[in-house]
Amino acid sequence: MTATTARNRMLGHVITAEQFDRDLLDVLFRRATALDGVRDDRLAHRIMATLFYEPSTRTRLSFESAMLRLGGAVIGTEAARTFSSAIKGETLEDTVRMVSTYADLIVLRHDEAGAAARAASVASVPVVNAGDGPGEHPTQALLDLYTIERELGRVEGVRVAFCGDLRFGRTARSLALLLALYPGVRMTFVAPPVIQVGGDILARLEARGVECRLAEQLTDVLDDVDVVYQTRVQKERFTDPLEYEQARTAIRIDGAIMRQLPATAIVMHPLPRVDEIAPEVDADPRAAYFRQAANGVAIRMALLEMLLA
Ligand code: CP
Repeated sequence: MTATTARNRMLGHVITAEQFDRDLLDVLFRRATALDGVRDDRLAHRIMATLFYEPSTRTRLSFESAMLRLGGAVIGTEAARTFSSAIKGETLEDTVRMVSTYADLIVLRHDEAGAAARAASVASVPVVNAGDGPGEHPTQALLDLYTIERELGRVEGVRVAFCGDLRFGRTARSLALLLALYPGVRMTFVAPPVIQVGGDILARLEARGVECRLAEQLTDVLDDVDVVYQTRVQKERFTDPLEYEQARTAIRIDGAIMRQLPATAIVMHPLPRVDEIAPEVDADPRAAYFRQAANGVAIRMALLEMLLA
């Protein structure tokens, strides 16, 4: 598939990982590799709006960096619940209708699952889901998959252990859906019951023939993994503080875990981390999470080019 065909096949909005197929991913990854380090003006005169109702470091700034590296301009509001007219009671739909007239593309982060789809239903420009509550985070999944391919040299047949907050974790959910496109991928979901992955995702994966396992201890599966995908337990999504405390320290990656991890395996994390990966792990070459986050710029450059060029 050529980049032009891929561009024509994009749906206009990026809402869920389920929009992508293997051909589209291959084109996107080739473009990301080609654009890595590029600074030019191919998106000159194009404007991207970032509307962030939830905090972010990586997603917002890497989107903004990607747009600026391609010569485009950026407008936006962080803390949009406070610093946009949402504070006066304006609905998301009305805000998006207005911002559609100011920008050529909207990157939206929101605290409610389904918010990106609602925004897309009223937007007159492409909407990119930059995380919708416990729903999905499709562009994070793109950079995660790209990282696996770059780090391991393959995706087919990889064994991935998803760890941590799999109940509210939108990044694991979106990545699992993308990995399901690749034959032979095996997924293990490692978490205590209170934050274990939902039956809805398991049903979708198993319907696609993916081999899924559940476990409570990372040490039980460490000898059978290529990727450990650790995630933060998301305090902000718990209504019961006791439940959060039970979940918080369940799975931690430290030097002892790294000594058991195969030499060829990698540790990923969408970041931010709190204490679920000990700082002593950072110097280990198998700790891929900062390289993973850095890949976000090239992936988002490729996506913006596909949506706007
Ligand atoms: N991975 C991720 O979404 O990070 P931010 O919350 O910093 O954007």
